[in-house]
Amino acid sequence: MAAADLETSQRARETKAQKVERLKRSKNPWEHFDEVREFARQGRAAVLPEWANLYFKWWGIYTQGDGAGAIGGSGGEGKATQYFMIRIARPNGILHAHQLRAIAQISERYARSIADLTVRQNIQLHWLTIEAIPEIMEALGAVGLSPKGACGDVTRNITGCPLAGIAAEQLCDASSLAVEAARMLSANDDFYNLPRKFKISITGCPAWCSYPEINDIGFTPAVREHNGKHEVGFSVRVGGGLSADPHLAVRLDAFVRREQVLPVVRAIAELFRDRVELRENRDRARLKHLFTQHGWTPERFLSELNGRLGFRLDPAVRDSPPSDAYRDHVGIHAQKQPGLYYVGAAVLRGRITAAQMRAAATLAEKYAGGELRTTNMQNLLIVNVPRENVEALACELATAGLRVDASAFWRGAVACTGTEFCKLAITETKSFARWLVEELEERVPEFDQPLKLNVTGCPNACGQHWIADIGLEGKKIKHGDALVDAYYFCLGGAVGEHARISRQVGYRCTAGDVPEAIERLLKTYLATRDTNENLRAYFARHSDDELRSQLAGAIVAPVARDLPVGPVPHGVGD
Ligand code: HEM
Ligand code: SF4
Repeated sequence: MAAADLETSQRARETKAQKVERLKRSKNPWEHFDEVREFARQGRAAVLPEWANLYFKWWGIYTQGDGAGAIGGSGGEGKATQYFMIRIARPNGILHAHQLRAIAQISERYARSIADLTVRQNIQLHWLTIEAIPEIMEALGAVGLSPKGACGDVTRNITGCPLAGIAAEQLCDASSLAVEAARMLSANDDFYNLPRKFKISITGCPAWCSYPEINDIGFTPAVREHNGKHEVGFSVRVGGGLSADPHLAVRLDAFVRREQVLPVVRAIAELFRDRVELRENRDRARLKHLFTQHGWTPERFLSELNGRLGFRLDPAVRDSPPSDAYRDHVGIHAQKQPGLYYVGAAVLRGRITAAQMRAAATLAEKYAGGELRTTNMQNLLIVNVPRENVEALACELATAGLRVDASAFWRGAVACTGTEFCKLAITETKSFARWLVEELEERVPEFDQPLKLNVTGCPNACGQHWIADIGLEGKKIKHGDALVDAYYFCLGGAVGEHARISRQVGYRCTAGDVPEAIERLLKTYLATRDTNENLRAYFARHSDDELRSQLAGAIVAPVARDLPVGPVPHGVGD
């Protein structure tokens, strides 16, 4: 057989993972933006499939679905339109007014005047044409923003406490570590080809709102008395991740000194990069799979890590995960700096307009020093606000539709991208989440607890339903002759001291019936809870059968979560 024929026949037999690995080996997309410029000159039809499906992600770019989601296409993946979406990384959620204004401008000019704040403190724009992409990259670069590494098999945006440097209770400000780690790994050619995405969170605050449990590496503050000195360092957890098979990160028996954080991050990134067994199947390619598929223990992981570091990390000290800390950062709160406050606006399910971004940027400059933060609950904060400006700022934010005072439903709702733009989606999520919140505000106005209400449009769990009080996973079910949006209920997920993946309680209903089901559940909770019993404890006290009957209003048989047959599809990589 001729060499070319041999190659064609080998390629025809390639698995998805083999294909992605071959494409990654053959090109580092960060070095080839000239190709994107050429596509922009020639138009959408010129975009090569390997760019559309893979390489673009290294530049934070995804193809945009046509609104029908997965069922509009084949093999579990919907049709791509001529448009693209772009994710702008914000390490530790740090954002300046002029940057937000620039994003507002880009959004107005190229993205139909909307954007989404995401669960990794990023900002996502949609409706972009290929012609616009080089201009957008330049406009972002001009204000020090980059989408590089926001998607693809690379280190994703490094998340951190949005209150870093300002929270009264923080043990240290770890934001410079998050920013440095991002600088070290993102856009570094040594790390352009990881087996799959790699997620890191670093916080110096004991409230752990950056969700260390669901990251590949999660640093949280730890304190020890050492050689007669009080030292603030970090605990480290590894191997967390959500998706269709969620896994909470495992703690290593290590105390990481502040100056050791970057070497540890680098060594774990190298360890991950070099594990060939993680390159065989893209559904089993995350760091967590060393533990779930390859028999690794935390001890083995630590010993590999120590070997790479060339020094031994000290043993861990006692860790105290926060108990039921609910922190959406919404509202007006004092900072550790006397006289200064932070003002958090609830951005309902992360959807924000260009006008709102402009307003927030202007207000941050008018009433404070122009510093903002994004949060992983899809909210927006303005920080360092002098006391005398707080009320006026909150009032003007509310006028712009960015509520500082919001119901538990409004502030606690998180939603993934859904069929509106995502090719893998089974259900529409953003409009649904808004409607659900409005319904619940009307139906259960007496609800008096914080609530994490997470809507996710398919089993991939981008909307983090596994760590929600009430997590909704999108399905399609038959309703009469039609296939309609439906949700499967997962209850009682938590992070911190009581960390657990939410329980699949066996209840599913059409999207239209969700508000009523949640109303029944929450009203039963309000009527029958023990004194001071929060929702997590209430769910923990009841069996799946009991919770299902509260949702259904009757005793009903459980239904299975009903995962699509075969692995969850994700094109040539997500
Ligand atoms: C196999 C496919 C995919 C898997 C397993 C997956 C999984 C996840 C998970 C678990 C998160 C939560 C992030 C965290 O808490 O750290 C996430 C975030 C996210 N995903 Fe996906 N995802 C997939 C594909 C997609 C696609 C195709 C889209 C949309 C087009 C998408 C949109 C998002 C967005 C907007 C976020 C917010 C986080 C960010 O800014 O990085 N995902 N994904
Ligand atoms: S959870 Fe599914 S529908 Fe939602 S953004 Fe992720 S891949 Fe798309």
